[in-house]
Amino acid sequence: MTQSGIDLMDVDGLTQLPRHVAIIMDGNGRWAQQRNLPRHAGHKAGVKTVRSSVEQSVKYGIEVLTLFAFSSENWKRPQKEVSLLMDLFMVALQREVKRLKRNDVRLRIIGDRSAFSEKLQQRIAAAEADTANNSGLVLQIAANYGGRWDITQAVHRLALKVESGQLKAGAIDESLISSELSFSDLPDPDLFIRTGGEQRISNFMLWQSAYSELYFSEAFWPDFDAQAFDQALEFFSNRQRRFGMTSEQLALAENKGSVE
Ligand code: IPE
Ligand code: IPE
Ligand code: MG
Repeated sequence: MTQSGIDLMDVDGLTQLPRHVAIIMDGNGRWAQQRNLPRHAGHKAGVKTVRSSVEQSVKYGIEVLTLFAFSSENWKRPQKEVSLLMDLFMVALQREVKRLKRNDVRLRIIGDRSAFSEKLQQRIAAAEADTANNSGLVLQIAANYGGRWDITQAVHRLALKVESGQLKAGAIDESLISSELSFSDLPDPDLFIRTGGEQRISNFMLWQSAYSELYFSEAFWPDFDAQAFDQALEFFSNRQRRFGMTSEQLALAENKGSVE
């Protein structure tokens, strides 16, 4: 195993796999508009792609798949669209749990869930509890998530500790901040995918993506099929992750088994 991913000798020609794949699932609205359908039809069609991405991740033994489903800023959309998205989330949580269990997938929701209805919060907790003992892929759905929200809530928690005297301000370092962020127990994303043709981060994982490999696909999310997912893995497999070092240092480390 390398620092960056799983070494794979010749699985579908890939030499390196990400441990954690994070995806901004974008382009549902445009997919629907292209077909003269309401935007919501695109969100619905996108659920199928969620399934295929989970299946591919399970197939390759990827440890974590994080999908950006609803950002802190998506509340600004027309109320009708927001409410249909909430309904879809509710239905998907209920319908997909069986399939997740079959695939040994552990579901987690990241983001500020306090803004959701009581019923949706209960459904989230039930789906998480139902899959908590699974030991395969961790599937994280980022809902009402924002990178700035994540950093802000981490800062609040640290400030409370300083205020109560449990922590000295001078003791705050990068690893302490990391430890208060969402999913601090999981590896940072190695591969960061955005579908739908835009090349921006849109407030997804700001801290955790510091060294992610970025992959932008022109495909709208409902069209991002298993083959497209595999192409992203192929892109990742061809990257040399240097983390600030030189290629020569990495080659040397590979020969010696450690970094000098
Ligand atoms: C992504 O698709 C899904 C959500 C943000 C909920 P969009 O709805 O943003 O689709 P486009 O970008 O308008 O095509
Ligand atoms: C990012 O997509 C959020 C999700 C996919 C959930 P947006 O469609 O909201 O991003 P912008 O507004 O184009 O940057
Ligand atoms: Mg969009």
